[in-house]
Order: sequence, then C-alpha cells, then structure tokens
Amino acid sequence: MNALLKSTNLNKSYRIDANNEQQVLFDVNVQVHRGEFISVMGPSGSGKSTLLYNLCGMDRRSSGSVQFKDHTLETLSEPQLARVRLDEMGFVFQQIHLLRNLSIMDNVLLPGYLSKRCPRRLIEERAEELLNRTGIASLADRSITQASGGQLQRVGICRALINEPDIIFGDEPTGALNSKASAEIMELLTEVNRTGTTILLVTHDVRVASRTHRVLLMKDGRLVNEKALGPVADGSEEVTEREAVLASWLQENEV
Ligand SMILES: Nc1ncnc2c1ncn2[C@@H]1O[C@H](COP(=O)(O)OP(=O)(O)OP(=O)(O)O)[C@@H](O)[C@H]1O
Ligand SMILES: [Mg+2]
Repeated sequence: MNALLKSTNLNKSYRIDANNEQQVLFDVNVQVHRGEFISVMGPSGSGKSTLLYNLCGMDRRSSGSVQFKDHTLETLSEPQLARVRLDEMGFVFQQIHLLRNLSIMDNVLLPGYLSKRCPRRLIEERAEELLNRTGIASLADRSITQASGGQLQRVGICRALINEPDIIFGDEPTGALNSKASAEIMELLTEVNRTGTTILLVTHDVRVASRTHRVLLMKDGRLVNEKALGPVADGSEEVTEREAVLASWLQENEV
C-alpha cells in the first residue's frame, strides 16, 4: 500500500550565522498511511515540530524528499505548497491562529471560501454541520474572544476540517488545555479519525499519545523508535492500560 505521506532521508539544517549551521533532522524516514492516527513524542528540542513543519510543507527540507499523495513537496513552488496546504491538509496548533475580528462561524468558513473548490452554500452547510458535531453550534455568532480554550480548539478543528483534508497536522493541539478539555479534544479527534481523516500530531502528553495508533519517538533529530498501539476500541476502559503500556515503553527508551 502506498503511503499517504512519506519522508525519505529527510534532513534539515538551520543556518545559525554566516559560518555555522545546526542540523536538526537526520535522515528521518516516516510513512503515514491513510486512516492512521499517529503521534510524535520526544524531549524538548528533539525536532518534533521541525519534522511536522517539513512534512506539511511549511518549512523546506535541506535534503531528502517528502511525498504527499502525488505531490513531491520539495519540487513545488510556494504558491503550489500553499494550495496543497489549503485544499488537502488541515492544521490544529497549540496557539490557534484565529482571526479576532471575525465570528467563530466566519473563522471556520474562511478557508472554505478561500479554497473556492465548492459553492459557498455547500461550505456553509458543512460549517454548520461541523459546529454541530463539535458541540459549539450555539457559539457560531460569538467573537472568538468570548470562548474558552477548549471551545477555541474545537473552532480550530472545524476550520481544519472545512475543506475535507486528507490529513490533519497538530503541534501540541492540547498543550494549552486542562486535562478535561484535553480529553474532550482527543475524543473529538478520535471521532474525526474514525470517519476517515488521517491525523499526525506532536505531543508531550502520554495520555494524548496513548489514544493514537502509533507513537513515533524522536531524539536529537533522529527517529529512534516507534510503538504500535492500534486503534482505541469503542468504550474505552482500556485507555488507562494503554497509558501504562506507553509510559513504560517511554521509560525503557529513557524519555
Ligand atoms: N527557525 C529555526 N532556526 C534555527 N534553529 C531552529 C529553528 N527552529 C528550530 N530550531 C532548532 O531546532 C531544534 C529542534 O526544534 P523543534 O522546535 O523542532 O523541537 P521540538 O521537539 O518541537 O521541541 P519542543 O518539544 O520544545 O516543542 C532546536 O534545537 C531548535 O533550537
Ligand atoms: Mg515543538
């Protein structure tokens, strides 16, 4: 089976000054298959965010290759990459960059309108359906300054889904939330994944990662190990079990 997203010997260096470069990613090979729910863990500074940004085309690799569907990302121009991100990818970050002068509904609609792939009426129907599904329909007309962190993260998820992306990328999407809101967002993402959207997220949180199918471990810019957990079964008494399994695996791997 072809991977939905694949990196081959992905290297990334940043120029520090005129004479120095710092290599941040070393020959990273990842494969993400359609329908997977993957988390990336590892110590602070190990390159998790850099990996994510290179996989989604927000940053440019130094060498190696990133293949997403039939796109070879390093061969695309900036406008082409922007188009792929808008139409085929969704993003949910810790700091959700919502537009403060737009309502919650308009924040969700905007990428749909920008994409111009569907008539406005369909985008509007879809936005309403997403707000319903994520439990924030009653907030549609509010300003984003009148919503809680958990509610805003739901807005972010609706916005990420508006163009029916193949994959959602998340960089610590629950990082700013309390444990209750975090669990709710993970339930929602699990639901989104069950309905067919592939998800790749970076997290420091064992509880969050334990709900994903597969955990990739980064250390010092290298992908050093991975742990397959499989999908969470419906009705999740096994969740604490998964957490324990993952926690001891992380300990074995000295994280
Ligand atoms: N734009 C940049 N320019 C120079 N160095 C950078 C840049 N972005 C990241 N780095 C360096 O790359 C390394 C990896 O950073 P990255 O943000 O990917 O780590 P991370 O695993 O996401 O950490 P955290 O868990 O703290 O978010 C760090 O040493 C960081 O200082
Ligand atoms: Mg990071």
